Amino acid sequence: MHDTLIVEKTIEFVKKALHEAESGHDWLHIERVYNNAMKIAADEPHANLLIIKLGALLHDIADAKFHNGNEDIGPEIAKKFLGENKVEPNIINVVLEIIRKISFKNSLDKESNDEALSIELKILQDADKLDAIGAIGIARAFSYGGYKLRPFYDKQIAPNLSLTKEEYKKSTAPTINHFYEKLLLLKDMMHTQTGKKMAEERHQFMLTFLEQFYNETEFKI
Ligand code: ADP
Ligand code: NI
Repeated sequence: MHDTLIVEKTIEFVKKALHEAESGHDWLHIERVYNNAMKIAADEPHANLLIIKLGALLHDIADAKFHNGNEDIGPEIAKKFLGENKVEPNIINVVLEIIRKISFKNSLDKESNDEALSIELKILQDADKLDAIGAIGIARAFSYGGYKLRPFYDKQIAPNLSLTKEEYKKSTAPTINHFYEKLLLLKDMMHTQTGKKMAEERHQFMLTFLEQFYNETEFKI
């Protein structure tokens, strides 16, 4: 099948699948990650655009945290869809690998060493992380916190600055802690030059937000 057609079909498939998703992990998140990835890829001439497009579109098709921690459902759904649409097996395998490895919590596993990552995975990790910071990152964090009925802040619960992957998955801390446990760490985890530049501006915006938040709440971490 022609690349353009398979991308169009994938867009339709993902829109339908995420129809009722939490607003931080819905089609609009996918669209932003796709656009971020395209921007970064424009400065990375060796990247394979079909892999990046399919990876961006399918990376949150069934996020483990909405499926009792099951990390196999997303890759299985993607495998079935891509297979039915006769995508080349080697492309399918790379896309499945990306879905498994893209997430922040999986980069907490130290075996995921930077050198070994493909350029397509680096671009997609950067694109996904960019959507977790800045104004949109703030919106997503409070949306997720609301979805989980978490308080905005709690003076009694300090952030844990060295969470392991298991602790991160189990964390039920107030939403403001998530800035210290994840969001403020992301700019130093970017792989590409373009991603780093985009992250810097969004990072500064979060710092400004936090300062104002403390002024208005008389609460400080
Ligand atoms: P990843 O899939 O990259 O490991 P997550 O899916 O856990 O990352 O997080 C995606 C987004 O969901 C975060 O950037 C944040 O906006 C929101 N989120 C996840 N966990 C929390 C949390 N404990 N508090 C607030 N927001 C969260
Ligand atoms: Ni995502």
